[in-house]
Amino acid sequence: MIKDLWYKNAVIYSVHVGTYMDSNADGIGDFEGLARRLDYLHGLGITCIWLGPFQKSPRRDDGYDISDFYQVDPCFGTLGDFVEFTNQAEQRGIRVMIDLVVNHTSDQHPWFQEARKDPDSKYRDFYVWSDKKPENADEGMVFPGVQKTTWTRDPVAGQYYFHRFYEFQPDLNTENPLVLAEIRKIMGFWLELGVCGFRMDAMPFVISTKGPQPRHRLRYEMLREFREFLQWRRGDAIILAEANVEPKNNQHYFGEDGDRLQMMFNFWVNQRVFHALATADTRPLVKALEQTRDRPANAQWAHFLRNHDELDLGRLSEDQRQAVFDDMGPDKDMQLYDRGIRRRLGPMLRGDWRRLEMAYSLLFTLPGTPVIRYGDELGMGDDLTLPERNCARTPMQWSTEPLAGFTRSNKPVLPVIEQGPYSFHKINAADQRRDASSLLNWTERIIRMRKEVPEIGWGDFKVLDTGYTGVLAIRYDWRNNAVVTIHNLGSESTEIQLRVGDEKGRHLVNLLTQDHSEANGRGVHTIVMEPYGYHWYRVGGLGYLLECSNE
Ligand code: GLC
Ligand code: CA
Repeated sequence: MIKDLWYKNAVIYSVHVGTYMDSNADGIGDFEGLARRLDYLHGLGITCIWLGPFQKSPRRDDGYDISDFYQVDPCFGTLGDFVEFTNQAEQRGIRVMIDLVVNHTSDQHPWFQEARKDPDSKYRDFYVWSDKKPENADEGMVFPGVQKTTWTRDPVAGQYYFHRFYEFQPDLNTENPLVLAEIRKIMGFWLELGVCGFRMDAMPFVISTKGPQPRHRLRYEMLREFREFLQWRRGDAIILAEANVEPKNNQHYFGEDGDRLQMMFNFWVNQRVFHALATADTRPLVKALEQTRDRPANAQWAHFLRNHDELDLGRLSEDQRQAVFDDMGPDKDMQLYDRGIRRRLGPMLRGDWRRLEMAYSLLFTLPGTPVIRYGDELGMGDDLTLPERNCARTPMQWSTEPLAGFTRSNKPVLPVIEQGPYSFHKINAADQRRDASSLLNWTERIIRMRKEVPEIGWGDFKVLDTGYTGVLAIRYDWRNNAVVTIHNLGSESTEIQLRVGDEKGRHLVNLLTQDHSEANGRGVHTIVMEPYGYHWYRVGGLGYLLECSNE
């Protein structure tokens, strides 16, 4: 087993350049601004940035509608600024991963413009066409309620084109070898400029056959081809796939021998984490952890709480979904696409910091690599007056200066949150820096500890019996070392009895407080879990480094 697979013990931070820091007072965040905030990110302790799309785009879907894959959109800076940024990140040991959005292009992309004008152009077959509107045109929309169809007539082409997403995002025909050649070229280009890999957007749709016929096939072999190309060009580069799929399909994405994708977001667990937070019933979550346990040794899950999209609850049962809605998004206005919640984490947990800390502690101790969302380290809120997912994409709140210190322009790209409990007057990085008990400083400490517990990213896990459905205990083992983490998802204090297993498990050294635990004569620990309490223990003692070095 290769020992330095960096993504196994990484902490990934998701950010959009346009809403992070504006350096030139035009109201839009840019690469110079982001680069100036690298010291902040370095201090927080994250090891990898996942950057949302920043290429040239009409930005009708927050940049997920690209019109030139090889240009930085001028509003964010130049290619030169991008390379300066990745270089400065590298100086601080931070890797940069970018979105690879190749399921579709913007309808403004020159390929689409050529394709629609000229049926004989080689670009015609870059997209997916039909003379008649297919019968299933009103099925399979990703944005139901907003998007009416997946086939739209283009008057210039005189044909219908397929779009899984909005109508201004025509799908690329990934069965066309020329399209695959372009995808490789795009990957190769950004790898040369210093990125460590790609968050691949809409993966199941990228590898699907497309067209008016009712049945479609997933061409998983493409995943291996992407990986081979990537690793030929840059050995330590990875693909992290956005693929919200059922557990039975995971193997197809990772590959039986770990020869396809290195990482996938674990949407299956994500939905059940929120269910557990809402109901304090961890049983569906435990089941999901078991269902997604199997993966090749070199593959890794990315776990997350919220991201830039809605919280998609589409893979819960109706009752489970309703329970999450009731607790975290009861108003219609908080919900989206008939399946999700569009709010930020802070308001979903009612700004209760004990709950926020517990939720984050749980995230950081799930079997995989944590991905956090910018602003959530401060407990930032949302602005439900903004359409669709934009409500949770407001600018980063740096300070109490005008417009949260995000910009000196009075026309920010999205409104800054100015009112209520989540306004920048109350929630901002500068104030939280000065307060040792702030969520920001807590996050810094927990990241620091998470990096010292590689067992979570690398090891095998076992769920331990606590006797309570609201209290989740997990033991991790790796290279003769073990840790145990316990979370109380409920609002009541609970005393649990816990067996940790072996002889060493009689001593549990608490990694976060002075509250250690010794087992009784029968090897049972009695541990009091405070409301929303979380404990991290090292099994046996702190002498783990000595043993590790023998491996
Ligand atoms: C992915 C992105 C989402 C975007 C969509 C279309 O689901 O996460 O933000 O709208 O792809 O590219
Ligand atoms: Ca700017």
